[in-house]
Amino acid sequence: MAFLADRLDLIKPSPTIAVTMKARELKAAGRDVIGLGAGEPDFDTPDNIKAAAVEAIRRGDTKYTNVDGTPELKKAICGKFERENGLSYKVDEITVASGGKQIIYNAMVATLNPGDEVVIPAPYWVSYPDIVLLCEGKPVFVPCGQESGFKMQARDLDRAITPKTKWVILNSPSNPTGAAYTRDELKALTDVLVKHPHVWILTDDMYEHLVYDNFVFTTPAQIEPRLKDRTVTMNGVSKAYCMTGWRIGYAAAPVALIKAIAKVQSQSTSNPCSVSQAASVEALNGPQDFIAKHNAVFKQRRDMVVEMLNQAKGLKCHKPEGAFYVYPSCAGTIGKRTPEGKVIASDDDFVAYILEAEGVAAVQGSAFGLSPFFRISYATSTEALKDACTRIQRACAKLG
Ligand SMILES: Cc1ncc(COP(=O)(O)O)c(C=O)c1O
Repeated sequence: MAFLADRLDLIKPSPTIAVTMKARELKAAGRDVIGLGAGEPDFDTPDNIKAAAVEAIRRGDTKYTNVDGTPELKKAICGKFERENGLSYKVDEITVASGGKQIIYNAMVATLNPGDEVVIPAPYWVSYPDIVLLCEGKPVFVPCGQESGFKMQARDLDRAITPKTKWVILNSPSNPTGAAYTRDELKALTDVLVKHPHVWILTDDMYEHLVYDNFVFTTPAQIEPRLKDRTVTMNGVSKAYCMTGWRIGYAAAPVALIKAIAKVQSQSTSNPCSVSQAASVEALNGPQDFIAKHNAVFKQRRDMVVEMLNQAKGLKCHKPEGAFYVYPSCAGTIGKRTPEGKVIASDDDFVAYILEAEGVAAVQGSAFGLSPFFRISYATSTEALKDACTRIQRACAKLG
């Protein structure tokens, strides 16, 4: 349509949201569908957080707040960084937005000039490249295969950096693979970044709390203090606190960038929801014990899903350290035929096949920049997951 801006052609609607919508549509039409596409916990927001929101409404916290967050929430965020990450930030080094996604968007709008390069390890969260493209930047992908646990290697990062590199985006634990960097693995990357003083680091720590088997989470500014004055440490309440709908994300960064981000936000959405901000203060300052309870369930599901998928003919599933995703390879199904005679030529074909044949909705690896794989979110009930994995095994067994 001629009326629409050319820049819209640079991007596509989020493929993960598209899969969730498709699964919902099929269900509404009466199909027996198990949706494994959604990137949100199936647990409800804890009651103490809900109560804080109700109290905020009663108190009259229903007006505009400071554009990039209330002083109370910024203080709670400083406390969180100090307590959990050993990072000392002042309130003027903190920004709050309507979700982690908006933080990344604001940061890119505020910093990218046409042609600036952004290094993105692949597979990646679907929004990184499209946000960069919308800001006229150039995504530079670094493929990270199953053999390295889907983690970027120092030499590959070093090779990807050019004089035009403005940012490197890191995401640990990762969406879509669940891979999380150990301190040593991250140190190897920060050693490279120290050598390139023109490069900024955006670390997306959204899944910080979702790690299993005593994995110890670390973040770049904590490991390498020399990087702190060019690092944006992004986090949020969406995943760990089961608050995806409340839309609160936050970040710590040098003051000049925080001000630039606030300038962008002041001319777009203004402040994030006042009630959600009050609830987020309680999330960060209140009891944290439910996180371990949720993680025990997530770990059990991860182990079950990995085991069951590894029993499916043609699939190979790596066991990840965190988040609530697995990213199995479907390489062993490529070239096989479905009972209807259709050849599976790609991961797109494979996910279309398991949806059609068995009503299991997963997301194709091509959406995340690394094929032939697919992503399964195990943030759904254990019974539904077991059923879904049995169906996938059955679908794989029928390929010849
Ligand atoms: C890696 C990653 N970063 C950021 C986000 C966005 O979080 P929010 O819902 O707070 O915008 C998501 C959500 O799926 C994610 O997976």
